[in-house]
Amino acid sequence: MTRSAPPGGGVSAAGVGVTRLDRVEQTPGPAGPPLTPRTAVVWSVLRAELDRRPAAELTVLDVGGGTGGFAVPLARAGHRVTVVDASPDALAALSRRAAEAGVAGRVRAVQGDADALAGLIEPASVDLVLCHAVLEVVDEPAPVVSALAGVLRPGGAASVLVAGRAAAVLGRAMNGHLDVAATLAADPVGTAGERDTLRRRFDVEGAAALLAAAGLTVEEIHGVRVLADLLPAAVADGQAAALVELERTLAAQPPWRDVAAQLHLFARRPA
Ligand SMILES: C[S@@+](CC[C@H](N)C(=O)[O-])C[C@H]1O[C@@H](n2cnc3c(N)ncnc32)[C@H](O)[C@@H]1O
Repeated sequence: MTRSAPPGGGVSAAGVGVTRLDRVEQTPGPAGPPLTPRTAVVWSVLRAELDRRPAAELTVLDVGGGTGGFAVPLARAGHRVTVVDASPDALAALSRRAAEAGVAGRVRAVQGDADALAGLIEPASVDLVLCHAVLEVVDEPAPVVSALAGVLRPGGAASVLVAGRAAAVLGRAMNGHLDVAATLAADPVGTAGERDTLRRRFDVEGAAALLAAAGLTVEEIHGVRVLADLLPAAVADGQAAALVELERTLAAQPPWRDVAAQLHLFARRPA
C-alpha cells in the first residue's frame, strides 16, 4: 500500500480536494490502534505518511501524547517515539503500556510543558510530530505551533488535532443548553466562559491560519467525529463499523468536515 507524494501546494481552508483517505488502506494492520470514530481518520492519514518511507525508522514526537494511544502503535510499527506530556500519571501509564506492548526501548517519556517544547527537543530533529487535543488547553497556541514547526526536519510532517467550535455549539444546543450554545457561538475564542474545560476551540480557517503562520504547509484537513457524538449510543454501538465507514466518507467534505467535534490538520515543514 503506497500513496503518491503529497501535492506541493497547500490546501485552502475551504478544503478543496483534500481527501486521500480513499487511497489508503481501510484497516490499520497489526501495529495499528483499533479503528473507532475517534481514531480511524487520523490513523489513515498517519499511515499514509508512514508508507511514504516504508523502510525508514522515523523519529516521532507526540506532544501531549498522554498514555500513548498513538505513540505505542507507532513504536510497534518500528519508529522511535518521544512523548512530551505535562502529566506524570499519563507518562507512567504510557511506560506501562509500552512495556506491555514490548516496545519500551522505542518509547521515551519526557515530562514537560508544550509551552517549553523548544527547550526539550533538539531543533530540526523530528520526522513526524503529533499534537492531538492539546492546543485547546495550552496558554498560547501560536508559540506551541511555532515550536512544533521548529523541531521538524525540513520535509517533516505535523499531525494536529484540535477541538471544533461548531460541534460544541451544536452539541450544547441539542442538549438543551441554548444559553451555553449562544455564549460559545459569540465568544471570540469559542469558549463557554470560566467553567469551560477548554480555553479555546477552532474553526477550519483559524486552525489552518495558525499552522501557516508557523511556516507549515497545510496539506490535508479532515473532520473527526462528524456524527459520532450526535448519535444515540444504541446506534453508535449497534452499527459501529458502518459509523466508522460513514465518518471516513464525510471527513474531508465540507460542510460535514467543518462541524466535526475535532479538526485534524496534516501539515509539512517545507523541505
Ligand atoms: C486530552 S489529552 C490528549 C491525549 C492524546 N494526545 C490523545 O489525543 O489521545 C491532553 C493531554 O495533553 C497533556 N497536556 C495538557 N496540557 C499540556 C501542556 N501544556 N504541555 C504538555 N502536555 C499537556 C495532558 O496531560 C494530556 O495527557
